[in-house]
Amino acid sequence: FSRGELSGKSVVITAGPTREAIDPVRYISNHSSGKMGYALAQAAIEAGANVTLISGPTNLAPPQRCHFVSINSAQEMYDAAMSSLSDCDLFIASAAVADYRPASAAEQKIKKTGQDTMSIELVKNPDIVTAVAASRPRPMTVGFAAETQDVISYARDKLTRKKLDVVIANDVSQTGIGFNSDDNAVTVVWADREEALAQRSKAQLGRELIQRLADQLNNS
Ligand code: C5P
Repeated sequence: FSRGELSGKSVVITAGPTREAIDPVRYISNHSSGKMGYALAQAAIEAGANVTLISGPTNLAPPQRCHFVSINSAQEMYDAAMSSLSDCDLFIASAAVADYRPASAAEQKIKKTGQDTMSIELVKNPDIVTAVAASRPRPMTVGFAAETQDVISYARDKLTRKKLDVVIANDVSQTGIGFNSDDNAVTVVWADREEALAQRSKAQLGRELIQRLADQLNNS
């Protein structure tokens, strides 16, 4: 790994889950650990980049020498992402953003009632990586696709629909990789080609992915 490939470049990475408040004590979230995003941030720092890591709640220590922005909700992640775009060269969306949030968060804790069912109305969250890819001037924009089937075709669909430069696809139906695990295996999908990276640690994968993205950034 040649050091300094990203020196002078600004890289913004989203990582981890978001929490969508139901009331002051409850939320909707997911099992994202943030490990892949933090590994990418670490690798980008080692490659000499100025890194902003916008993270939902995780159990991980923020990498040293990064600008760490801690958020809870998708809306907060969206706001932080939008205000990080000036001078951004490379944006990597590895966060598992909640697609929907409660239409309104109750101001007080919701009390149990005599009813056996209750429902919460959900409204769609903004798609952060789509908004970044549509911004002008636009950073090189990279998304993730976690799927359980037809991984590559869904990744290609995401590449076109969200107008991304690269999609990193992983099959979350395989045990031992993906969500929460220390290892991952991915296929990197570009408009005109793809490359499979077999199972390895997220730290190693982070370095290999950053190397490829840096090469592309430097040759564009
Ligand atoms: O549409 P889907 O959630 O499958 O796309 C996944 C990609 O889009 C990931 O890169 C994820 O970080 C990003 N995303 C986002 N904002 C959302 C939903 C997904 O940035 N609201």
